[in-house]
Amino acid sequence: MGNYILAIDQGTTSTRAIVFDRGGRLIATGQREHTQHMPQAGWVEHNATEIWKHTQEVIGTALGRAKLNESDIEAVGITNQRETTVVWNRETGEPIYNAIVWQDTRTQSIVDQLAAESELGAERFKAKTGLPLASYFSASKIAWILENVEGAREEAEAGKLAFGTTDTWVLWNLTGGVNGGIHTTDVTNASRTMLMDLKTLTWDDELLGAFGVPRSMLPEIRSSSEVYGTAHETSLLRGTPIAGILGDQQAATFGQAAFNAGDSKNTYGTGCFLIFQTGEDIVHSANGLLTTVSYKLGDEPAHYALEGSIAVAGSLVQWLRDQIGLIASATEVEKLAASVDDNGGVYLVPAFSGLFAPYWRPDARGALVGLTRYSNRGHIARAALEAVAYQTRDVLDAVNADVAAANGAPLTELRVDGGMVANDTLMQFQADMLNTSVVRPAVTETTALGAAYAAGLAVGFWSGLDELRENWREDQRWEPSINPGERDRLLRQWHKAVTKSMDWVD
Ligand code: G3P
Repeated sequence: MGNYILAIDQGTTSTRAIVFDRGGRLIATGQREHTQHMPQAGWVEHNATEIWKHTQEVIGTALGRAKLNESDIEAVGITNQRETTVVWNRETGEPIYNAIVWQDTRTQSIVDQLAAESELGAERFKAKTGLPLASYFSASKIAWILENVEGAREEAEAGKLAFGTTDTWVLWNLTGGVNGGIHTTDVTNASRTMLMDLKTLTWDDELLGAFGVPRSMLPEIRSSSEVYGTAHETSLLRGTPIAGILGDQQAATFGQAAFNAGDSKNTYGTGCFLIFQTGEDIVHSANGLLTTVSYKLGDEPAHYALEGSIAVAGSLVQWLRDQIGLIASATEVEKLAASVDDNGGVYLVPAFSGLFAPYWRPDARGALVGLTRYSNRGHIARAALEAVAYQTRDVLDAVNADVAAANGAPLTELRVDGGMVANDTLMQFQADMLNTSVVRPAVTETTALGAAYAAGLAVGFWSGLDELRENWREDQRWEPSINPGERDRLLRQWHKAVTKSMDWVD
């Protein structure tokens, strides 16, 4: 029996492979960034072939660094950027177009058209899918590819094309690709396509019809924790069972051992995603949150969650580095922000893909406001970091409003993870803005860990959720310490800035 689990984390900016031991400790990592293609304003694409190449490379790096081979690995888990849409030819294994990334807003006119056909507007499919009509989800991206790539619709209708989010793309390739690759996704990823019925956990004909997606393109929907198949003999992991798939935000929640109704976490990655577990109940938000599948272990019932999705968090720091040149490396932002005493009245609303939760305003665009002749680089860096904390506060207010409506208790403690939680100043500011304790676990690679857990549970590597709970350790905790009047003032100004970002697109 292998003593390790390997997780593949196919994220928005990079692909990683991480080896974990039985205690949930990180043993070795391989990581490679892939190119962000931005051919037009609002368009974001990835090359899926590059992603698969990097996936194989990072598996090799992680195994090499851990001095292990496939026989040491008991199972493989996959986690991924959700919604990002790959369409490929089943016979050649080649994608027919670049992957359209979740942040991409080119399909706004498709969703506007669907909204205009119903009295319910953007809420047209919300009861069934838990999602508002938005360019964020996969369905309109598939529709765009079928409309705009020559010959795609005919090929799709002839059963020649396959769709997948990047979990499915990686799984299909890892299990042999054109040589019998398995075309499967899990319930959490399927719940982000806008094509699945949340209750029945199956593809839905009304939704497929509305978006014009042939059923034959779609992967089989399975649970998040079961053996889907084994890695192909030509891969480095040959013969190893692939036994867990979770969308990255659901994986991070699982890796935080936040399994029960009332548990929550916030992940600070490319975007920022707060998940609040609602158990086996499907709870619909009246305050701009999504309803999503959280996990499903084998034949057990599915667990659901409310989610506050924020499109831009860490990618704002990348933007300051790559597009604006304000900093040379991402870590510099903290130092630059600390070079000033406060934000100097500057607010940055990063509505690069419109505003997601809780606003859902596709017409919003980024706004930098409050500038004076006194404003400097430090104030802008500070405004960027503060924006992450303010956006999370807006989402937390939505969670608490939904929970109060259901007579539940408000959230009193938020578990955090993701790259930005290494930034102590930001985390203190976050606790100040939330007026709630913020808690960082010892292992902050919770996304990969969650996928490893799902895979390990399926093959009996871990005995059950209790054992996973015992692996969770607190590393640091931040308590709110700001003067409440000052908090109110900052939030008031932030909301004014948010208003300025709206109604920008003609
Ligand atoms: O819904 C998009 C989300 O899954 C992307 O996550 O970690 O790549 O920013 P991340």
